[in-house]
Amino acid sequence: MSGFLPSDWLDELRARVSIEDVVGESVQLRRKGRYLWACCPFHNEKTPSFKVDTDSQMFYCFGCHKGGNVITFVMENDRMEFMEAVEALAERVHLKIPEKTESTATDDYNRQIREKIYEANLHAAHFYHKMLWQPEGAQALKYLYSRGLNDSDIRRFGLGAAPNSRDALFQSLLDAGFSEEVIVSSWLGGVKDGRKYDMFRDRAIFPILNPQGRVLGFGGRVMGDGNPKYLNTSDTPVFNKRNGLYALNFAKREHGLKRLVLVEGYMDTVALLKHGIPGAVATLGTALTEEQARLMKRYAPEVWISYDGDSAGQKAALRALDILENQSIPARVIAYPEKQDPDEFLKARGVQAWNDLRKLSPVEYRLLRAKDGLDISVQEDRTQYTLRACEILKGVKTPVEMENHLRRLTQETGYSREVLIRQIGSAEKVKDENEPKRPRNVIQETKRSEIQLAQMQLIALLDRDKIPKGMIEAEDFDSTLYRDMFRYLSEGVKPRDFISDLPEEQLREALEALNFEPLPDEREKAMDLAEELLHRIRQIRINQKITILTARAKNAPDSERKELNQQIQALLMKLD
Ligand code: UTP
Ligand code: MN
Repeated sequence: MSGFLPSDWLDELRARVSIEDVVGESVQLRRKGRYLWACCPFHNEKTPSFKVDTDSQMFYCFGCHKGGNVITFVMENDRMEFMEAVEALAERVHLKIPEKTESTATDDYNRQIREKIYEANLHAAHFYHKMLWQPEGAQALKYLYSRGLNDSDIRRFGLGAAPNSRDALFQSLLDAGFSEEVIVSSWLGGVKDGRKYDMFRDRAIFPILNPQGRVLGFGGRVMGDGNPKYLNTSDTPVFNKRNGLYALNFAKREHGLKRLVLVEGYMDTVALLKHGIPGAVATLGTALTEEQARLMKRYAPEVWISYDGDSAGQKAALRALDILENQSIPARVIAYPEKQDPDEFLKARGVQAWNDLRKLSPVEYRLLRAKDGLDISVQEDRTQYTLRACEILKGVKTPVEMENHLRRLTQETGYSREVLIRQIGSAEKVKDENEPKRPRNVIQETKRSEIQLAQMQLIALLDRDKIPKGMIEAEDFDSTLYRDMFRYLSEGVKPRDFISDLPEEQLREALEALNFEPLPDEREKAMDLAEELLHRIRQIRINQKITILTARAKNAPDSERKELNQQIQALLMKLD
């Protein structure tokens, strides 16, 4: 990712940007002692556990253990990829990004065009929105009202009206100084046989914004029953519907979002958000793509699929489940009554009923769908269902969950437990058994082992100069992470200069160590603690060795076993 950026350039960037300023734009920082404190922007809390250290230019949250430098902060806070964050920060301090290869004139040209398209889109969004309050937009306004929206909803979502005119927007864009090329590239207008025309005509308009609030494109709903019902901006240099999602700009503002609710349509999204259900997003007239799934991971640890109750929606839900599973994103499915979509459901039943709807686990949902087209009261169909169900149950990982499903399935199908278990077992393994990776955004307490905690404290004591360096050796640590940290700290390298290159999991552990609290202030107490920690670590490691040797001795030939037992005895003597 950062491959082509020289590290001294990155150092310069980090040095020029003030982390205090950047973080301070998102949360209110208060100085208390050495650090600046705030309520963490990454999880919900009432008392500040998020600190910024202006000396080391790093941040850390004691609650959710997120931490890092100013680049990491922007990546998390603005949900950007590394390069996006670097570009945003570089622009902020007017630092020129070093050129990857010979800077091509086309690169510059493309950048300029993209910028112009964003501007044209913004102009169009204002134009459409203003139209809504003009006579030309009266019909669209009436339509939006009829869908249960009020003026404040309309403003919040920036909705608009494309007038029933050949080229009103085109002319307005030309008047504002946009070139024909930009207007056509942005897919706002077209030219045919020398005549200019608007792409969106006589439609209610939904602007699509990216998380940074820039207008990417539009969806336009026909007034009445015309075709297509929704017209969407086609691919442009700033917009590709395969990797965008509608309403991400709203999701971005929700900190500590528990889940995204994935819906099919614009109106569904608006309805959920309007009813105070946060995190609603929609694909843009396409089936869910891998890119969109990966994007969703950045916003919440879980996704609820909330597609229309009709059979098309339910088929799409099954496909979406597969895609989310491929990306190791925990998912649930909301099964709506057959003829309703989320918008209609909320309108008819209200948000309380929505909260009460069952959110099915993937297995529950697949089992439900396995009954489609079958009549369970007929033996043949029952067998068919049983076979499908057993295939699905192969994916169940925990015995408890399996037990619940088996109970239900024996009741439903009349087959005995034993038969079901054999059927599940006999079905070929198709899935790979790798544990799904934990999605990036999950905020959870990682259980640290005793030895990890002890090592963390030693590292923290070292970093804060509370104990002499000679007191500990690299061998006192049992993982490469701590050994490396120890070596760096002993050589006087600052944490900020070695931690940013660590992979995410290690970064988290390293920051947890560096920020360990509480630690004794006085040197004498710190020394006592260090002695005790070292002792504990050594004892634990002796115990670990004994366990390994004992296991080995069990299977060793007699000749070797004697030797091993002697070693074990010697180690046991060292334990207290
Ligand atoms: P639906 O037909 O379910 O739309 O398509 P809807 O949102 O319920 O429409 P209303 O309530 O009748 O206004 C779901 C989504 O699929 C995309 C749109 O994003 C739509 O919101 N779609 C649908 C298109 O892009 N083009 C179409 O022609 C139809
Ligand atoms: Mn619908």
